[in-house]
Amino acid sequence: EDADKLRAFQERIDAEERIEPNDWMPEAYRRTLVRQISQHAHSEIIGMQPEGNWITRAPSLRRKAALLAKVQDECGHGLYLYAAAETLGVAREEMVDQLLAGKAKYSSIFNYPTLTWADIGAIGWLVDGAAIMNQIPLCRCSYGPYARAMIRVCKEESFHQRQGYEIMLTLCRGNAAQKEMAQDALNRWWWPCLMMFGPPDSASQHTDASTKWKIKRFTNDELRQKFIDATVPQAHYLGLTVPDPELRYDEASGHWQHGAIDWEEFKQVIAGNGPCNAQRMERRRQTEEDGAWVREAARAFAEKEKRRHRV
Ligand code: 3HC
Repeated sequence: EDADKLRAFQERIDAEERIEPNDWMPEAYRRTLVRQISQHAHSEIIGMQPEGNWITRAPSLRRKAALLAKVQDECGHGLYLYAAAETLGVAREEMVDQLLAGKAKYSSIFNYPTLTWADIGAIGWLVDGAAIMNQIPLCRCSYGPYARAMIRVCKEESFHQRQGYEIMLTLCRGNAAQKEMAQDALNRWWWPCLMMFGPPDSASQHTDASTKWKIKRFTNDELRQKFIDATVPQAHYLGLTVPDPELRYDEASGHWQHGAIDWEEFKQVIAGNGPCNAQRMERRRQTEEDGAWVREAARAFAEKEKRRHRV
């Protein structure tokens, strides 16, 4: 690509300018954004499965209504993100085909099962908590449509995180069995949530380019640490034990030092061998089939409308 154009582009990024769809951009910048935004969208849509699993079994009407609203929000986040990716010249059908063909990723975290109601609390508190850590900086991403999509997503995520934490608080103030459910959920979700932030910086192939182009404002390890520092005190407030025997507060740095993360498990999960990968993909393929008639009807109606207005 033209060296002058590349230099001018980097100067715009360094000057904190927003890049918009019709601006010139390096092909690699466009490609990495399509990769990240489409996979972010896939994550939101697949994430509806573990959460949706408890809508019919929520313990009260209030909990059911909040969970229903959260799952609908996740679907909306997916649609904003697919729309943001489309501004980069990729069609929605193409992105969905990549997901269904196993060529595109979605967040590792959604390949774990939701075994009890406490998991819905742990997902809101921990998974949406982690998502917020990751998505707040994305509101300042250099690519306009992605940054703007994140602003509304973050507002809705904070409701998701709040309702999840309140579920955990209710269980921890309940009877022994309820508190045990909350502890069991923390035990199963803690480490997969740390993996959600991505591989360690030393093993992250995109971080250098993404930080140079201000797509990423913090590295994977920096965001992971921010999440741990914010969440450990919340676990202590709940009266729960974080399942990491090496966790200890380091006065000098002001950070919680943690034990080793099992990156082999992470590799296995993103390679498709996690507890629920096959089930999530099977379900997503099935819903694609079940929804085909809706897409055909919408297309036929749009064609008819176009003809009607043409005459
Ligand atoms: N799950 C699956 N794949 C992951 C992953 C994870 N948790 N973390 C990293 N990877 C993949 C990357 O996609 C990349 O593979 P690719 O080249 O095929 O895309 C590879 O591992 C190397 O990782 P990198 O750190 O080099 O990749 P990135 O620079 O893209 O960083 C990321 C990974 C931090 C997840 C970044 O892509 C990102 O910030 N994405 C946007 C946020 C996002 O996708 N969040 C998903 C959470 S779901 C959610 O928010 C729903 C909530 O409402 C509950």
